[in-house]
Amino acid sequence: MKTESAFHEKIAIVTGATSGMGQRIALDLAGNGAFVVANGRNKTNGNRLEEESPRIRFVPGDVKDPETNQGLVEHALSNYGRIDHLVLSAGQLGIGKLDEISIDDWRDTFATNVDAVFYLLRHALPVMQQKGGGSIVVIGSIAAFHAFPNHAAYCASKGALVSLVRQVALDFGPSVRINLVCPAQVQTPLLDASARAFDDPEQILAQTAQRLPLKRLGTTTDIAEAVLFYSVMPVVGSPAHTLRLTEAS
Ligand SMILES: NC(=O)c1ccc[n+]([C@@H]2O[C@H](COP(=O)([O-])OP(=O)(O)OC[C@H]3O[C@@H](n4cnc5c(N)ncnc54)[C@H](OP(=O)(O)O)[C@@H]3O)[C@@H](O)[C@H]2O)c1
Repeated sequence: MKTESAFHEKIAIVTGATSGMGQRIALDLAGNGAFVVANGRNKTNGNRLEEESPRIRFVPGDVKDPETNQGLVEHALSNYGRIDHLVLSAGQLGIGKLDEISIDDWRDTFATNVDAVFYLLRHALPVMQQKGGGSIVVIGSIAAFHAFPNHAAYCASKGALVSLVRQVALDFGPSVRINLVCPAQVQTPLLDASARAFDDPEQILAQTAQRLPLKRLGTTTDIAEAVLFYSVMPVVGSPAHTLRLTEAS
């Protein structure tokens, strides 16, 4: 896949860029020539990103705050004049059965996994449309389609993204394409935390790896390659386009 020319001098915003998949995605976008506005709360990790690539600007903040998302869009516009790509990778677990999770933790999980996606899309989509279009990838999860013990809020919040992305594809295409990438288990700090919801975390990770087709856990590079692919794939034939046709017929 020739990605270098496709991303050369393009402008991207990446949330969740201070760890795991988002970090890999930000570095790969920058490595392929894009200028990246990278978000997360961890300033040490964010500053390290800037040290790794002169094309990355770290703009810290909590995505649960609408102002953070507005600030990311304003930063991209004032420094680069447009937004070509959005990648929304920020996410958090909501561990617990329905009758165990606190109301605060339930709300916090939805605030990060769903509300924050709404905020960034709301600010960025009109701008992207006005400037001629672009592409968006939201990181969902296999948890949208499969139930996992002790993950009530996480499964429900990731399920909501399926409907949201489908709906936005319909309203904002064809100039803006939006896709949801739904990883299975990928080696990141979030997966380690998720495994701790089980009695024997090491065993559950080993068993999970054996159940996956490749007989190993996913890597952040696996996901970054999929995200870069969906960011540049042609409009005709894309899942969002197919979905629009299906919905319209
Ligand atoms: N790992 C898996 O197995 C797996 C599988 C399917 C889907 N996913 C999804 O993939 C995405 C990335 O997860 P990951 O595995 O890469 O996890 P990770 O390594 O824990 O990274 C999560 C990222 O989200 C950011 N974040 C969380 N809450 C935030 C907030 N309120 N404000 C700003 N940033 C926030 C974190 O930044 P700070 O800590 O700096 O704030 C961090 O950069 C998530 O949406 C997750 O649900 C993961």
